Amino acid sequence: MLETRGLCKSFGALEVAREIDFRLERGARHALIGPNGAGKTTFVNLLTGVLLPSRGNVLLEGEDVTTLAQAKRVKRGIARTFQINQLFRGLTVQENLCIAVSERLGVGGAMLRPAGKRADVIDEASRLMEILKLGEDAGRRVVELPYGRQRLVELAIALGLNPRVLLLDEPAAGIPSAESHILLDAIATLPKDIAVLIIEHDMDLVFRFADRITVLVSGAIFAEGTPAEIAANREVRAVYLGSALDA
Ligand SMILES: Nc1ncnc2c1ncn2[C@@H]1O[C@H](COP(=O)(O)OP(=O)(O)OP(=O)(O)O)[C@@H](O)[C@H]1O
Ligand SMILES: [Mg+2]
Repeated sequence: MLETRGLCKSFGALEVAREIDFRLERGARHALIGPNGAGKTTFVNLLTGVLLPSRGNVLLEGEDVTTLAQAKRVKRGIARTFQINQLFRGLTVQENLCIAVSERLGVGGAMLRPAGKRADVIDEASRLMEILKLGEDAGRRVVELPYGRQRLVELAIALGLNPRVLLLDEPAAGIPSAESHILLDAIATLPKDIAVLIIEHDMDLVFRFADRITVLVSGAIFAEGTPAEIAANREVRAVYLGSALDA
């Protein structure tokens, strides 16, 4: 679905992506792990067009999208969530979802007349709220919600874009562990053909979710394999997993 070839990015003298050759297969449940500052968020920013690479290419279903604008990549099916969430904080949960769905349906302009008048948009927003157990919060403004619930709204918005590739940057950050199962359940019920890449420091979550794991260290792919292979990899344990598993 999504591939990078020789992807490089530098911030001044700091190389944060070094010759990254990566493949996200159709329907993948893939995790990207690695120490703080390894370049994981930067990599997602390169995939989504927030950043342009210094060298190398990004391909979506074999088509070069290296320089395609962010919004156009979303239209082609790449959706993401952010490590720090980005929502319309003054609008309600339902309004946030209606905007996402309206944009996807190409009726975004009409949407901003009194929020959410179209039955198909409202129905879809309701369906998304049901998946993420947000029904009770439909009429509440995002700013009033606890952070964990805001993260669920963000995932609902990403799903509302009907993505083929979903990039999740630490979706469980800030969600109380008692609620993280809602997030996991939602991810588990995603259509099988959506390719999901999750960045996560919670190794319980990673090993429950992923069928493939890539370890990024200092901007380069350090190891890649099945969860069993990664768990058994001594070098990975030494640079990252040991401490993450102990944490
Ligand atoms: N816009 C920028 N300008 C300069 N340096 C940056 C910029 N964005 C990120 N960096 C640096 O690039 C490196 C990689 O950052 P990045 O946020 O991609 O790491 P990460 O793997 O997502 O870390 P974390 O696990 O803490 O989220 C870090 O050293 C960071 O300080
Ligand atoms: Mg990050």
